[in-house]
Amino acid sequence: MAMPERIEAEALVLVRATPAHATEVAAAVRASWREINPFMPWATEQYGEREAWDWTSATWGAWGRKEAYEYVMTDAADGSFVGTVGLNAIRHRCANLGYWVHSARTGRGFCTMAARAVARAGFEHGDLARIHLRHMLANVASQRIAEKVGFQREGRIRSLMQVHGERVDLIQYSLIDASEIR
Ligand SMILES: CC(C)(COP(=O)(O)OP(=O)(O)OC[C@H]1O[C@@H](n2cnc3c(N)ncnc32)[C@H](O)[C@@H]1OP(=O)(O)O)[C@@H](O)C(=O)NCCC(=O)NCCS
Repeated sequence: MAMPERIEAEALVLVRATPAHATEVAAAVRASWREINPFMPWATEQYGEREAWDWTSATWGAWGRKEAYEYVMTDAADGSFVGTVGLNAIRHRCANLGYWVHSARTGRGFCTMAARAVARAGFEHGDLARIHLRHMLANVASQRIAEKVGFQREGRIRSLMQVHGERVDLIQYSLIDASEIR
């Protein structure tokens, strides 16, 4: 049982993230940092190829240890970069689902397609028993993705993260079987 390195997901093709993606990742983060940064503070105006190389290299290694499965979302029509999606922090057969989309490509259902496909692969090929998704209260788009994919709301986790100097609560959702995916 192994996670596929390439997944066809409706209008997207998801491919395993590698250091070869660093240039595209860095350019997309710099183009989108204003929208990503409120929820993912690592995304800044200064995010460069070095940071993208560090992330893609680390995640490449984590895949081999079955600790994370991170993908680049590409447009099935032309192969262009759309965003990233992945299962990470894997322990006890439980994973966290994370994602971001280039600001020029949001609002077209891409993240929902990617989240659905990666979650399904996690259960069917990644030997996962649980996938959770956590979002900040203000992140309505992320909440909609959770609902559209079929995640079930578990509740509000208080003071879970430090974001921009403040303790923040997160809303937690989960899937515990592929049959829950819509
Ligand atoms: C969250 C994010 C990945 C969504 O990507 P996307 O490809 O636009 O997502 P989708 O098009 O699949 O779905 C987004 C849904 O949120 C809705 N939405 C987006 N912004 C919204 C807002 N401000 N208020 C209400 N709904 C909103 C969309 O209408 C859509 O729902 P619908 O299909 O019911 O209309 C993207 O906005 C992003 O990269 N945000 C910054 C990073 C981030 O927040 N990552 C997740 C951290 S938990």
